[in-house]
Amino acid sequence: MASVYPKIKNRGFVYHLHPPLVPQNVLKFTHTWGLGGSALVLVLMQIISGILLLFAYSPTPEAAYPSIVALQQEMLFGKLIRNLHHWGANFLVFVVFFHMLRVFFTGAYNSRRKVNWWIGLGLFLCVLISNFTGYLLPLDQLSFWAITICTAMFEYIPLIGTMIQKIIIGGTEIGKATLSNFFAIHVALVPMCLAILMPFHFWQIRKAKGVINPSSAEGKIHKVSSVPQLVTREAAMALVMIAALFLFSVLFDAPLADKANPGLSPNPTKAPWYFSGLQELLQHFHPLVAVFVIPFFTVSCLICLPYLKFEKADGGIWFLSENGRRMGIMSAITALVIAPVMIVLSEYVINISKIVPGVPPVVINGVIPAVLTVVFLFGFYQVMKQKFAATAEEGVQAVFIFLLVCFVVLTITGVWFRGPGMELVWLWD
Ligand code: HEM
Ligand code: HEM
Repeated sequence: MASVYPKIKNRGFVYHLHPPLVPQNVLKFTHTWGLGGSALVLVLMQIISGILLLFAYSPTPEAAYPSIVALQQEMLFGKLIRNLHHWGANFLVFVVFFHMLRVFFTGAYNSRRKVNWWIGLGLFLCVLISNFTGYLLPLDQLSFWAITICTAMFEYIPLIGTMIQKIIIGGTEIGKATLSNFFAIHVALVPMCLAILMPFHFWQIRKAKGVINPSSAEGKIHKVSSVPQLVTREAAMALVMIAALFLFSVLFDAPLADKANPGLSPNPTKAPWYFSGLQELLQHFHPLVAVFVIPFFTVSCLICLPYLKFEKADGGIWFLSENGRRMGIMSAITALVIAPVMIVLSEYVINISKIVPGVPPVVINGVIPAVLTVVFLFGFYQVMKQKFAATAEEGVQAVFIFLLVCFVVLTITGVWFRGPGMELVWLWD
């Protein structure tokens, strides 16, 4: 029987990325359309702007800072290129994070997309490591002290923490060896990992027969040619992304503080914004819990996620169901109320050492808050499940949304509401 679809003869490079025919509904612009593609565009922009920066940058403690100043003041478009690299890196964290949430909330990590979820986690790690290692390179006060406190966090990882810390900074304090380590990881190791993982990621999408699509369950669906329909839309989205990055970089300069001074720490000393949530956790929990137990538990859950058996696997339905969406909104509102209240209580009111004197700090700030948190989360899961007559998956999703919003509140608090001595302050103070 003759095919109802148009015949496509010229199979070029594009057909490595897309099948010749795609379901018509993937062309529809939605609020999360093209997040993965935008991440790709940003990574390519980082590589181009990074290579241009290499023409000016000198990776030695004496020359790094002056080379950035010279780049900004003496070189044609030097400031713009640095701005593009700086803001592109920040945009990338946002875009990849939202792409990951899109994948999570449409259940696109199940069965045949399992491997791609893990590759995605690897990509996310690469993006974080690039940001972290790049942060040190200008070697100004901001970057030197942010990296100092972040690398100090490794000490709290039991048994191997100090060893990891020594390997990363190449000794006992941030210096020449740290800069060479970070530089090599930043311009060689991570780009190489990205270059391996990204094609693998795209191949897996082809292998899974395209992105997740609820209409695939509805039998025969109308298909259109990916060239030019899909490709022109993608090109338009890429151009919008590039234009937005250029506009932002023209309007806002990347920060550059004074040259790093190891003898004078700024007050407050803050981690880069994407690690602010972690730094904020340190204000409320024992370091062992904040830096090791919680991140270890989070990463383990993310890795194990595809093993959860979902009833409606592969459906591509947002938030599992309409019920799941309502529960999500409820969880987010609960977190928006509880998280700030707990931050204030933990800062000013709750002092278990006064209530129960003589108890070791690891019990006061570690064991007790951790146990209370687990008990609360379990209770929250049960209450939500009963109130909404929900499935186990919808209950787990509600808890996840609750934790996610708490983490966002912690990050915002760390970035905007912490002042000298890491005291809580109003944004306008
Ligand atoms: C995912 C990819 C990448 C990310 C997220 C990233 C991120 C960053 C960040 C956040 C900085 C600090 C910017 C600042 O505030 O000054 C930086 C600096 C730098 N990056 Fe990258 N980068 C990436 C890829 C690359 C590549 C591929 C190269 C070169 C081959 C490169 C070369 C540089 C250089 C030379 C600097 C120092 C100049 C400066 O600090 O402005 N980067 N990077
Ligand atoms: C540099 C980072 C990344 C790039 C460039 C990238 C790129 C892409 C692209 C272009 C797509 C197809 C279109 C779309 O769904 O938007 C995609 C799909 C996918 N990505 Fe990523 N991604 C990145 C990070 C991640 C992360 C952090 C995860 C999750 C941990 C992830 C998991 C997935 C999965 C499971 C799919 C298939 C989704 C589906 O079939 O609906 N990716 N990615």
